[in-house]
Amino acid sequence: MGAAYSPGRVNLIGDHTDYTGGLALPMAIDLGTTVDIVAQAHGGLALSTDAAVEPDWTRYVAATMEELGLQPHATGDVTTTLPLGAGLSSSAALAVATALALGFDGTALELAKLCQRAEQRGTGVPCGLMDQLTCAAGVEGAALLVDFGAEVYRPVTLPDGVAVHIVHSGVSRSLAASEYAERRGACEAAALLIGPLRDAAAAATASLPDPLLAARARHVISENRRVLEFAAMLEIGDLDAAGHLMLESHASLRDDFEVSHPALDRVVDRLGRTTGVYGARLTGAGFGGCVVALTDSDVDDAAISGSNAGHWRVRPSAGARRL
Ligand code: GLA
Repeated sequence: MGAAYSPGRVNLIGDHTDYTGGLALPMAIDLGTTVDIVAQAHGGLALSTDAAVEPDWTRYVAATMEELGLQPHATGDVTTTLPLGAGLSSSAALAVATALALGFDGTALELAKLCQRAEQRGTGVPCGLMDQLTCAAGVEGAALLVDFGAEVYRPVTLPDGVAVHIVHSGVSRSLAASEYAERRGACEAAALLIGPLRDAAAAATASLPDPLLAARARHVISENRRVLEFAAMLEIGDLDAAGHLMLESHASLRDDFEVSHPALDRVVDRLGRTTGVYGARLTGAGFGGCVVALTDSDVDDAAISGSNAGHWRVRPSAGARRL
């Protein structure tokens, strides 16, 4: 039948912006998932998107097959080097590799959109496009500056001498589904009052009657600005400024968007005081999962890991491919 590999992703900056038509700077990483489909017929694993089906990852395979117009029956192997449920897009990587293994033929953007629909169908979570697009379109040595409104992206090369680290907080993302949908709803409610958040001025949030909506909108508007500044700082090699923007992004996600967790805050605080670290922030949806840090490449790995539940030094990698 076919086999394919998809990387996972880490987001350097720009969270909870994709579903508002905003900006983000994620990168594909050198951890990923391989799907090898040997038969696609009855008699194989009967897959279903039913929420009761276990193991739950089979729902992503089933939903991807359904999006491709196929009956959800398959026999094959799935192997991964990604930690599951850690916010490194193990589910997007599974969907993207499945679609390619089953012969999907189209652009990276088309592949990402199909897999986004599959993820929404498989989980009921109204996720944005960032994870699937990064898995599909990753570029070796670079992060992707993505404009989700215009649906365009370009590579931003990471300067020499820097490293990207991921540190697991030890907390898996249990509340993510309902809270994620609630945050997306708040952004949509704010946009009805002050217009698309991508175009809104920070000052416009003052006119919002509900302080909670104002805080959510303030995060999105300020985060879009930070993404552009961060990309510019990477391009001129001002890593101190880039790191500072990551810490600001974390504070905004913690205080205005309220998607952090005390365990994430502790990792960010510790890394902020660690020699050789430019900056750190929660990455992805939040509510648990991982912190991403930008460091000097000479930094001592043991100092970054601390006693946390998992630590990976990752490299910006190419996107998914058929094998
Ligand atoms: C999850 C979603 C993405 C994005 C992030 C937050 O990873 O799948 O679409 O919204 O959260 O930036």
